[in-house]
Parts: sequence; structure tokens; C-alpha cells
Amino acid sequence: MPWKRLLTARWMKIPVFTLCLVPVLLLVWKYFHQDLGANPVEFITHATGDWTLRFLAITLAVSPLRRLLGLPELVRFRRMLGLFAFFYGCLHFTTYLWLDKFFDFSEIGKDVLKRPFITAGFAGFVAMAPLALTSTAGWIRRLGGRRWQMLHRLIYVSAIAGVVHYYWLVKSDVRKPLIYGAIVFVLLAERVVAARRKSAAGRARGAGANLAAIK
Ligand code: HEM
Repeated sequence: MPWKRLLTARWMKIPVFTLCLVPVLLLVWKYFHQDLGANPVEFITHATGDWTLRFLAITLAVSPLRRLLGLPELVRFRRMLGLFAFFYGCLHFTTYLWLDKFFDFSEIGKDVLKRPFITAGFAGFVAMAPLALTSTAGWIRRLGGRRWQMLHRLIYVSAIAGVVHYYWLVKSDVRKPLIYGAIVFVLLAERVVAARRKSAAGRARGAGANLAAIK
């Protein structure tokens, strides 16, 4: 199948990596061409926030797409996509920390505690950090596959917190956060359905083996 050959090609990670860099390169380009609008800090905050949520959703879409399209090879890109979610999350948080709050940590602390949308965003960002730190093969070995998998479920927390953060920050038009919410819901619901199917198949196999033993 040409798709499979393309997805398993060693060089394929290079165009995917380059594509993931496009949003930040576009921001740099706009900065040097004074094209960041009347409020550049707001522009950067919004663009990096949007891309954090998009990359979280794209990373979450890898497993359902693998199952749906029968393309296990897609897993090769999951780590890179997740790290890009964290990368855009870092840019987003740094924009807030540096360009919005000028490293005024007492102001930031107050914000995190008193403004619910900042609390949710902060929770989403904190949940992403251990995922990025333990994304290497060495950490999978150290933690063991099962514990590593459990820890990496934090991406669900991060995506849900990101949607709540977006929903709480918009003043009137909630359509965009609701669309993101629906996408994240579908991606998580597919996992529940797949897990149920897998355990039902396991039970059926067990029953079959018992029957064969009786015969
Ligand atoms: C999982 C982590 C996060 C995600 C997915 C996320 C996502 C977003 C999104 C989608 C937006 C709106 C962009 C738009 O309007 O087009 C946004 C805005 C914003 N975010 Fe985040 N964010 C995260 C973490 C944080 C953190 C840690 C902070 C700061 C502590 C933060 C502060 C802000 C601010 C100040 C805005 C602009 C609010 C406004 O327009 O009034 N975010 N974020």
C-alpha cells in the first residue's frame, strides 16, 4: 500500500517536523514584517494558545486514526506531535509570563488563584510537563510500559483543561471552544468504545478457550 510505504519511510519525519514549525515561523515572519496587528502580545497569545490546543487534539487523534484506518505506522509521529503541543504551550505560557506580566510572580500567583480561566490553563500546562519529560524510550523502560501509559493519560487532563480554559476566557461567542470541546469529546469517546470492544473480544476468546478445554 503506497500510504504504508510513505508513513514508514525514514525521511517522512522531516516534512512532518517542518510542517509543525510553520505556525511559529509564520509568527516570526509577521513580527519582522510588523504584521501582528494593533496588539501584538494578544495576537501571539491567541495564536500560540490555538496551536497548543490544535496539537493536543492532533496528538489525541493518532490512536483513533491508527485503529480506523488500520495504519499502526502512524504511532511514529505521536511523540513528535505531543512535543510540539508542549512547545506551543511553552511559547503561550512564556508570552503570558514575559510579555503580558513581565515576570511579576506575585501578580501571576494571584491570577492563577483568582481567575478561573488562568487556573484551568495553568493546570493544562502543568499536566503536559511530565509527558514531555518522560517521552523518551529511556523513560518508558524506567517506568515500565504500563505505568508509562497510565502517566501519559495526563494528556486527557491537559486537553480537557485547555478546552475549559478557552471556554471560560471567551466573553460571548463560545462557538470555537465548543467545537474544540466536541472534537476532544469524540477523540476520548472513541477510546472508551475501543477499550470496551477489546475487553469484550478478550472475554469471548476466554470463553472459547474454556469451551475447547471442556470438549
Ligand atoms: C494546555 C494548556 C493551554 C492551552 C491548550 C491554552 C489554549 C488557549 C487558547 C485556545 C486561547 C484562545 C486563543 C484565541 O482566542 O484564539 C488561549 C488564550 C489565553 N491563554 Fe491559554 N492555554 C493554555 C495554557 C495557558 C496558561 C498556562 C496560561 C497562563 C498562565 C494561559 C493564558 C492565556 C491568556 C492570558 C489568554 C488570552 C486571554 C484573553 O484573550 O483574554 N494559557 N489559551
